[in-house]
Amino acid sequence: MASWPYLNSSTMLSKPKHPNPSFCLHDFPNPQHSSSSFSFTASPIAAVNAATRRCRQTNRRSSLILASTDKPREPLKIMISGAPASGKGTQCQLITSKYDLVHIAAGDLLRAEVEVGSANGKKAKEYMEKGQLVPDEIVVMMVKDRLSQPDSAEKGWLLDGYPRSSSQATALEAFGFHPDLFILLDVPQEILVDRVVGRRLDPVTGRIYHLTYSPPETEEIAARLTQRFDDTEERVKLRLQTHNQNVESVLSMFEDITIKVDGSLPKEIVFAKIDSALSDLIHQKKNAILGTTAT
Ligand code: AP5
Repeated sequence: MASWPYLNSSTMLSKPKHPNPSFCLHDFPNPQHSSSSFSFTASPIAAVNAATRRCRQTNRRSSLILASTDKPREPLKIMISGAPASGKGTQCQLITSKYDLVHIAAGDLLRAEVEVGSANGKKAKEYMEKGQLVPDEIVVMMVKDRLSQPDSAEKGWLLDGYPRSSSQATALEAFGFHPDLFILLDVPQEILVDRVVGRRLDPVTGRIYHLTYSPPETEEIAARLTQRFDDTEERVKLRLQTHNQNVESVLSMFEDITIKVDGSLPKEIVFAKIDSALSDLIHQKKNAILGTTAT
């Protein structure tokens, strides 16, 4: 993976070029992409529900959700990206706990399809087992459907692990979903395998653990932890290969709104950097709205 310079939370990778038409926020503009169309494949409601369970459970646990007066009037629209096991899911749990965004993880949506044994799930599993990207005709509409639900529009969204190719990014723009901020978690590859092999999931709370870095709090939790079917050393190497082949094409489309965060730091420190960037964004959105109202 290319080595990116570390930027603090208020610094973008490059100077903004395009004004954001939705709220005229000078510092967080959108990239411009061409349009594209995809065939519709309906997802079973059960699959979507299962995929969002982990995020809802996180939100319910929250004791830190921002008071409504602290929220911008226009909801946040955030993307988070990074290599396998760079900490996307972990940071999403912390972000949604504080900012009450709708967490939409492409990997979770796909695993839910696999779990219910749908046609899409069966096809997706073939690719996931090989560490390859699941074809766009499955993923694109699945993510678009979830983004289109009323809670995403109302609360704002946190898109995790999507887009992973320029065609996915183009489709998102064509559907009218314009992110405010693209968070890139940067973690050296030698750390990633260790993180994947030690990862465990709590099927009851949806929490992500690591046997060494984030062990379960009680023996009861430890006894019920599960492991993902693609969390083996062999498979994570394939996932990394796929990530490395695609990451540059995606980053180049969002460089105006990208912040890079050192994801090798302890998760609380990583979150503090992201938190600071999100606070800045909220203030800028508020100021943009006030400026618009004043004129
Ligand atoms: P997906 O589920 O998205 O997997 P991934 O990208 O490989 O990422 P992970 O979920 O493995 O890791 P993460 O970054 O969320 O890390 P986590 O927080 O859990 O995708 C799976 C598959 O689905 C893909 O391979 C592909 O086939 C398909 N797919 C998904 N999206 C697709 C798309 N858009 N298009 C096509 N196909 C798609 O952390 C990992 C571990 O590290 C945990 O144990 C955690 O406790 C620990 N940890 C986290 N942060 C820290 C820290 N700061 N310090 C120490 N330990 C930490």
